[in-house]
Amino acid sequence: MLASQTATQPQIMRVQLTVNGQPHSADVEVRVTLADFLRGTLGLTGTHLGCEHGVCGSCTVVVNGDGVRSCLMLAVQADGAEVLTIEGLEAADGTMHPIQQAFLESHSFQCGFCTPGFMMTVYELLEKQPEIPNEDIRAALSGNLCRCTGYQSIVAGVELAKQKLAGGTSDTPVAASATR
Ligand code: FES
Ligand code: FES
Repeated sequence: MLASQTATQPQIMRVQLTVNGQPHSADVEVRVTLADFLRGTLGLTGTHLGCEHGVCGSCTVVVNGDGVRSCLMLAVQADGAEVLTIEGLEAADGTMHPIQQAFLESHSFQCGFCTPGFMMTVYELLEKQPEIPNEDIRAALSGNLCRCTGYQSIVAGVELAKQKLAGGTSDTPVAASATR
């Protein structure tokens, strides 16, 4: 090390936030992303990291009702926020959320790597637009990438999730309607 170089101390800040209904408080380096905080500090590894620069959507979580790319958000920016991750979709008794059930019934995954990010995007989408026309679903999902290219079945899963959340009784995967 050159004499002119001095070791810099990491800047630490305390964050307090609610994740999946549970309050958390921790000291974090200010450079730590929300994704790394969720995965590394809280052990919530259901949030996946693909590109780590905002392209793939795999790291999507919901912060104060809005879908965000947790690889682009710092943990300290989530101070005071309500965060929902894929782990929070499932009910405490293990009952799957209608979106999870719909994806399961529609086979909306292959390797499953992109699935948590898609589900959190769909959660935000159907919270904000519960009656989104089926023909608009593809555009709404365009910020999420699936490397297995299972898009037909993912769209089918969203259509079924929409029905389930609306109280519809259809348990029939609607893959056929997604083949356009
Ligand atoms: S890992 Fe965040 S957008 Fe790809
Ligand atoms: S199911 Fe494999 S990346 Fe989407």
